[in-house]
Amino acid sequence: MPPSTIPPPMETGASPGAEPPLIRLVPPGPMSRDWLSRLQRTECPICFATPGDEPEPELSIVYSAAHGCNVIDLDGNRYVDLAAGFGAFLLGHLAQRPSRALDQQSHRLWAGLGDLYPSDAKIAMLELVAGLYPKPGARVLLCQSGSDAITAALKTAVLNTGRPGILAFRGAYHGLGYGPLAACGYKSSFRDPFLAQLNPHVAFAPYPADQKELSASLDAARSALAAGSIGAVVVEPVLGRGGCVDPPASFLPLVAELAEEAGALLIADEIWTGLGRCGAMLACSRVGVVPDILCLGKGLGGGLPISACVAPDNIMQAWKRTVGVVHTSTFQGNALACSTGAAVIEAVRAGNLAERADEVGRDFMDRLRDALHGAPGFRKVTGTGLMVGIALQSGALGAAACRNLLGRGYIVVTGGAQGEVLTITPPLTIGEDLLEGFVQAMADSLEALARA
Ligand SMILES: Cc1ncc(COP(=O)(O)O)c(C=O)c1O
Repeated sequence: MPPSTIPPPMETGASPGAEPPLIRLVPPGPMSRDWLSRLQRTECPICFATPGDEPEPELSIVYSAAHGCNVIDLDGNRYVDLAAGFGAFLLGHLAQRPSRALDQQSHRLWAGLGDLYPSDAKIAMLELVAGLYPKPGARVLLCQSGSDAITAALKTAVLNTGRPGILAFRGAYHGLGYGPLAACGYKSSFRDPFLAQLNPHVAFAPYPADQKELSASLDAARSALAAGSIGAVVVEPVLGRGGCVDPPASFLPLVAELAEEAGALLIADEIWTGLGRCGAMLACSRVGVVPDILCLGKGLGGGLPISACVAPDNIMQAWKRTVGVVHTSTFQGNALACSTGAAVIEAVRAGNLAERADEVGRDFMDRLRDALHGAPGFRKVTGTGLMVGIALQSGALGAAACRNLLGRGYIVVTGGAQGEVLTITPPLTIGEDLLEGFVQAMADSLEALARA
């Protein structure tokens, strides 16, 4: 068990969970190091997969507690969490509404019996999630991870079309189960070791970062669809892990048109963008697209594992053609995750957090652009809402900046093909003072790295 002797970080007068960074011991401090070496003795070495890499405990910290936008590590350092569970903590850590819902549910019922005997919590969650689809009458398949939701969507598509083929986009990430992995355009190194076990009917088109790249992307999509064997077009409305790339506004509508003409279903992977993260409740709605299938995850459970595959009734009816219950799992519709998730959806709505993400995100991106203009190694700021990318010159600089910022008390992660994009996905509730503090730290960090 983690020790109970961690000194509480100094209070600054800011409200709990909204405190600026406080670094007492250069991270990782001795407690973190100790626990990290234990981690390395037992965990499958998935995190050190680059050939020649040795485990590097000095690149990590061990979380001990968190509240709002703050994370406390085992050495009592306090960070501002700009990663927020890879974008999952839309309301921050231990947010009041989901915490209360979780607490109440935990004293009543943890789980029903999967697809057999549902809980009231699951049914209420289904209704709320169905209401997130842009048209009424949608049906929902609850799952546990983003990867699961995409798997469910791919199955839904093949049941409808009978076609095994998938069109996906380079740079896109849909999770690593065998269904979505086949459509992973993020890095071929994710697929290569497993290629022999993956769906071979996947075509990739380039993802357009701007207007200039649009026609090449659409041409590639059109020619892949012309073969007639593609039943699903899976697309991130804004690339998340691929570097917070917001494509031209006409991209998604045109892809939707191409998919429809070809008789394929459009799967919108809103696992990252959805629920306000991109500055709208759904990124598809920003450009007037109603996808055939919508996938949600990450923020949906407020930190608990739950995701959803959502589609209109006529598309979901295809599941009736299967013999028996052919897609389920032990924890399907888990009551704890459902109650927590329902509270998240309500809180995002009640707090107008999508609109807030849009406003605060615009301002934040402007400030970053001003402060980083001409900074060594800085290329550009990308993204939308509160999914913001800071593109740097190289992956090496991305890793160095990430580490340097940790030392300054800011948790960020890297994305983009080479890890060259710092990815900022804070809670949608984050105070602008904390973002302002980061802008300064980011500028200082690049200057310091250039001098080193
Ligand atoms: C757009 C997108 N889709 C799917 C996934 C997979 O989600 P999970 O890691 O929960 O399986 C992710 C995860 O980062 C994602 O960003």
